[in-house]
Amino acid sequence: SIERTFSMIKPDATRRNLTGAIIKIMEEAGLTVVASKRVWMSRREAEGFYAVHKERPFFGELVESMTSGPTVVQVLQGENAIARNREIMGATNPADAAEGTIRKEFALSIGENSVHGSDAPETAAQEIAYWFSETEVVG
Ligand code: CMP
Repeated sequence: SIERTFSMIKPDATRRNLTGAIIKIMEEAGLTVVASKRVWMSRREAEGFYAVHKERPFFGELVESMTSGPTVVQVLQGENAIARNREIMGATNPADAAEGTIRKEFALSIGENSVHGSDAPETAAQEIAYWFSETEVVG
């Protein structure tokens, strides 16, 4: 079915001018960008977005890297958008990512892995609502 998912192009990627290259892969996979903005996250925003990870040993490093430069936050829409986006992103750790995936091609490390995508319908809805009002999503 047609779904919406939340996607971020992380600072390691915007810094290397990879925004267009990454969106091209998403569009070629049948996903449509129905909302998009470039944000330089505050510490508070990054901590809130990633609150589920706050007890993890990498939380400090994660917040540090997500506040190190601009991020492009997006809503992607398409057939099975949540799973489709995860397929094209590849594994969280670029060392494990399949050939042809965004992380295999562009990620620098597990912490600087170029993109984030929602993992389930509930998190997609939460993550979209964290960054966008309903009128900003234009399908
Ligand atoms: P993301 O999909 O944005 O969700 C949480 C992020 O935490 C993940 O991608 C990684 O970038 C980061 N992360 C996960 N594990 C580690 C780790 N072991 N060290 C540093 N960062 C990590």
